[in-house]
Amino acid sequence: MAGVCWKRSAPPNEDRERKEHVMAKIMPTTVAPMPPVDGLPIERSDPFDPPAVLAALREERPISRLRYPDGSLGWLVTSYPLARAVLADPRFSRRRELQRAPRRIAFEEEHPGPSEPGFFIGMDPPEHTRYRRQLTSHFTVRRMRELEDRIARITAEHLDAMERHGSPADLVAEFALPIPSLVICELLGVPYTDREKFQHDTRVLLHLESTFEEAMGALVSLRQYLHGLVVRKRAEPADDLISTLISGGALDDEEIAGIAVLLLIAGHETTANMLGLGTFALLRHPDQLAALRADPLLVENAVEELLRYLTIVHIGPTRAALEDVELGGEVVRAGEVVTLSLPAANRDPERFEDPEELDLRRSATGHLAFGHGIHQCLGQQLARIEMRTGFNALFSRFPNLRLAVEPEDVQLRTDMAIYGVHSLPVAW
Ligand code: HEM
Repeated sequence: MAGVCWKRSAPPNEDRERKEHVMAKIMPTTVAPMPPVDGLPIERSDPFDPPAVLAALREERPISRLRYPDGSLGWLVTSYPLARAVLADPRFSRRRELQRAPRRIAFEEEHPGPSEPGFFIGMDPPEHTRYRRQLTSHFTVRRMRELEDRIARITAEHLDAMERHGSPADLVAEFALPIPSLVICELLGVPYTDREKFQHDTRVLLHLESTFEEAMGALVSLRQYLHGLVVRKRAEPADDLISTLISGGALDDEEIAGIAVLLLIAGHETTANMLGLGTFALLRHPDQLAALRADPLLVENAVEELLRYLTIVHIGPTRAALEDVELGGEVVRAGEVVTLSLPAANRDPERFEDPEELDLRRSATGHLAFGHGIHQCLGQQLARIEMRTGFNALFSRFPNLRLAVEPEDVQLRTDMAIYGVHSLPVAW
């Protein structure tokens, strides 16, 4: 693979800007180039819809210039076919050190270094393949189905606790966050009693307002905690994923700790927000909720549609061009970073009919909520089972579930790397 360093490609980037500037001066009669979008837009006017400006961009210019917070110029892709094409194209790299944050966000530093060992989401093949190969067999549909009973029990226990707590309750604290958190802990072999520590660290890490120092402090603390756990498990193995990776012998402790950090972060914040925001969306679409209540078998379809409609990964992902690539009539220069707006792509009318409608009966398969290509979500089958079990159990346990506050008062996670709700007060 051409290991293109983004710094080497900065001059063509500057050249191009200079050229555009000069052209605009010497040819004032030509149409002025559209000004770049200044940072990825995240402000919403509706809790369930992506920022309106993204839809306008998708219509007019599905690949547009984007000014990154570090001042560099790259691209923003908002259409389904272009986003999918980039995710499937090996000429676009996921290597962490080549990326730029499309918003000022501590977790993704402005000038990131290479991914730590094991944190394979920030790597390309062959490193990425080496790690992912160690894990795929643990996340197959079959393996996840084996977990179904355990997930159903965990869900029922939390609904019991919520009932004991009494109405009203915060659905995020009682249900949406603890279930995926407990499941990923059990899978990895992380003691759930330590949850306050790692839930706090994850929150700091994913908060857009955290300073760089705060976020890095949280990451180091998570890594140290999990490294300690790997060392303990090497001495005393148990029946869990961390112990299995140790006994496999292909990875060292640093690498296993890195994998565990990635799975722990990715494994509970994401599904938790789909459960929280998904419940909010269903309560605001009573006809759809009634359809789901009437037919629990609809849940499989419903979950895909909620994933498409809500697309909670709203910042990035990004990819860096390893060589000049023609895309949608533009040339992405080597080193330039492309931000893919998954929420905008999943509302592309070219791909989904009436994309602005939440329609649990439609076939939403092919959506990009889990990404696409070699980095497509490793935990998607687990997330699906947690959501199917969670939504059906919640709405059958509480047939009168309703919001306990005005919809405008629900706190939205526009300030977090993963979109959703901070809390969801419900009554029954
Ligand atoms: C509804 C819940 C979830 C959503 C919406 C989601 C979304 C995503 C997306 C969009 C990506 C691709 C990122 C990219 O292309 O750069 C991804 C990757 C990933 N996800 Fe998820 N995810 C969810 C749940 C989970 C769970 C439960 C786990 C773990 C058990 C998990 C583990 C991962 C990992 C390890 C990767 C990196 C894969 C790779 O680089 O090969 N995710 N996820």
